[in-house]
Amino acid sequence: MIQYQNSLKNIRADQLEGFFVGWPNPPTPTTHLKILKRAAHVLLAMNGSSVVGFVTAISDGILCAYIPLLEVLPSHQHQGIGSELMRRMLEMLREIYMIDLLCDSDLQAFYSKVGMEKSSGMLVRNFARQSGI
Ligand SMILES: CC(C)(COP(=O)(O)OP(=O)(O)OC[C@H]1O[C@@H](n2cnc3c(N)ncnc32)[C@H](O)[C@@H]1OP(=O)(O)O)[C@@H](O)C(=O)NCCC(=O)NCCS
Repeated sequence: MIQYQNSLKNIRADQLEGFFVGWPNPPTPTTHLKILKRAAHVLLAMNGSSVVGFVTAISDGILCAYIPLLEVLPSHQHQGIGSELMRRMLEMLREIYMIDLLCDSDLQAFYSKVGMEKSSGMLVRNFARQSGI
């Protein structure tokens, strides 16, 4: 049974092992916990005491929000957890005018299903800092 929570109370770095799959130089679990703490909004998907998915949003709290990170552990994918995290995050951001994210084109159908629209974007990636500052 998956539970969803927006609190980081009692969450430890060692509960965040296994994320950033495929990243050559990923943030450590300790850095991951800092990222979650500094985000304006965070949601965790919990299987008992294990964190199996998360989504973050950064925001000015007035007009704009950006969703930089959404991930579900491979062992828990294809069970609707990612969609539920996104539905709940969009509900948390419902008063915000612009809510943006970037994704590969193969994921656009996934985000369309939770009510987002296709767009185009631009980005910079500083790969030397992929594990965080
Ligand atoms: C994207 C992600 C969060 C989806 O989580 P999930 O819990 O499996 O999502 P759901 O079960 O709600 O939906 C799964 C559906 O999403 C779509 N989907 C998921 N990953 C996909 C991918 N890489 N390409 C295309 N479609 C994808 C499929 O339609 C899939 O349907 P299926 O289960 O019938 O195969 C998860 O695959 C993940 O963590 N991926 C790695 C990190 C990532 O890509 N994050 C998004 C960054 S923009």
